Amino acid sequence: MPSLPRELSPRQSPSLFEVASYSPELIEDLFARAERFEKNVHVNGYFQNPKHRVVGLLFFEPSTRTRLSFQMAAQRLGYETLHFDNASSSLSKGESFSDTVLNLVAMGPDALVIRYGISPELDQLLPTLPVPVINAGSGIASHPTQALLDAFTIYREKGSFSGLKVLIVGDIRHSRVARSNFDVLTRLGATVAVCGPPEFIQKNDLPTQVKVFESLDEAVEWCDIYMGLRVQLERHAESGSLSNDQEIAAYHSSFGLTQTRLQKLKKDAIILHPGPINHGVEFASGASVMKDPRNRVLQQVTNGVLIRASLLAQIFDGISLKENA
Ligand code: CP
Repeated sequence: MPSLPRELSPRQSPSLFEVASYSPELIEDLFARAERFEKNVHVNGYFQNPKHRVVGLLFFEPSTRTRLSFQMAAQRLGYETLHFDNASSSLSKGESFSDTVLNLVAMGPDALVIRYGISPELDQLLPTLPVPVINAGSGIASHPTQALLDAFTIYREKGSFSGLKVLIVGDIRHSRVARSNFDVLTRLGATVAVCGPPEFIQKNDLPTQVKVFESLDEAVEWCDIYMGLRVQLERHAESGSLSNDQEIAAYHSSFGLTQTRLQKLKKDAIILHPGPINHGVEFASGASVMKDPRNRVLQQVTNGVLIRASLLAQIFDGISLKENA
């Protein structure tokens, strides 16, 4: 790991690397702020009285929802954002990810939002930085803000997590969203289950309290919340997975939300997906799933702005995280 420049001291402020650092009380505060911000924005056009802050947005992997919703959240708080553009950056000249992070931090942003692939070097470096760091998705390990906005969406629909049955379907093995959701949702009191092809589910990797369904037809009738996941072909080491129309059709038939399964889903269930969606793979192509009255996929995106704004404000207010942060 590269050493820190002398003028950078280890960070004092709270960061968000894993949802494990978020207690139920802190999550309650996060949700309450998000709802307060939603009311404020209708009246004032901003979430709270503006303060001057600069938030660095450093995305080494592609993103639409997370990057733009952090930008929107920051702007509604009156903050400015500092953007890193992968394509025009000095990464193309061979600069390392770590040096890129250190240089951006040396410019003095008040917080850093970062997305990156599998990188033990960055995993080691980020907790030593002198600014709050928010994990915007790290490899296949975790995506804490996605799980928090998913939980917020469920909370707003259902009012409580106790006894709620959440089904996560698809490429569990490569999903940072699933990992962070296991942590948040089980701690809040929901029962979580997964369903997918055996090659996408490593039972030894799952927390013991997560149930596994072999049959999606059975699981779809069981659940109150149906969360589809994208098949993340770019993270599959093995080649040929879902590489032709026949394999895609077979996957969709066994593990997709088809018209028939939509009919089996409870009337008061809700349908979630972190995006981006592969239509015709995890969801039936055409309008049936997206126009279904139980679909909350775009509501998740709207809630994502509120939750990320609430998180930024919490962090700048100096929240106190659990010691395992
Ligand atoms: N849900 C999610 O992380 O989407 P993006 O990759 O577009 O940010």
